[in-house]
Amino acid sequence: MEVRANSAELRIELGRRYHFSASHRLHAAHLTDEENFRVFGKCNNPYGHGHNYVLEVSVSGPVDPATGMIANLADLDGFVEKAVLQVFDHKSLNEDVAAFQEKVPTTENVCIDIYERLKNFPHAKLEHVRIEETRNNSFEYAGEEFTREPVASNAKKEQR
Ligand code: NI
Repeated sequence: MEVRANSAELRIELGRRYHFSASHRLHAAHLTDEENFRVFGKCNNPYGHGHNYVLEVSVSGPVDPATGMIANLADLDGFVEKAVLQVFDHKSLNEDVAAFQEKVPTTENVCIDIYERLKNFPHAKLEHVRIEETRNNSFEYAGEEFTREPVASNAKKEQR
């Protein structure tokens, strides 16, 4: 029989859902009005539009043998409330959230921004942030980057 010395070695992932409503307008300052409309279509409407976003936060960690938990949900809720919900809920992403005065508030960018806000949660490791923008669209970010192949090796491949 395999005996584990310490149940704290077991890694478990915890997911929790939150909701916020916000409006946005997809508009890139470096594009002309025509280009913006071509790229973003009706999402470029000058007065914006709203979404009821579903935010899923996943954290992982060892199970604390004393409590049987990775992290206390109340701690996670308090952290998300302060770091994200108070900033995003019932707000205009373009007008009210500093990051989106420069960046287009697509849900990709919102996902990355929220990940950055949550990554220092002190009681567990942030695994990923997933946002449902509509029933059909969802985005997930786990803090990863693409490592791009150098241009030279791409060029070599094309020659084959
Ligand atoms: Ni939208």
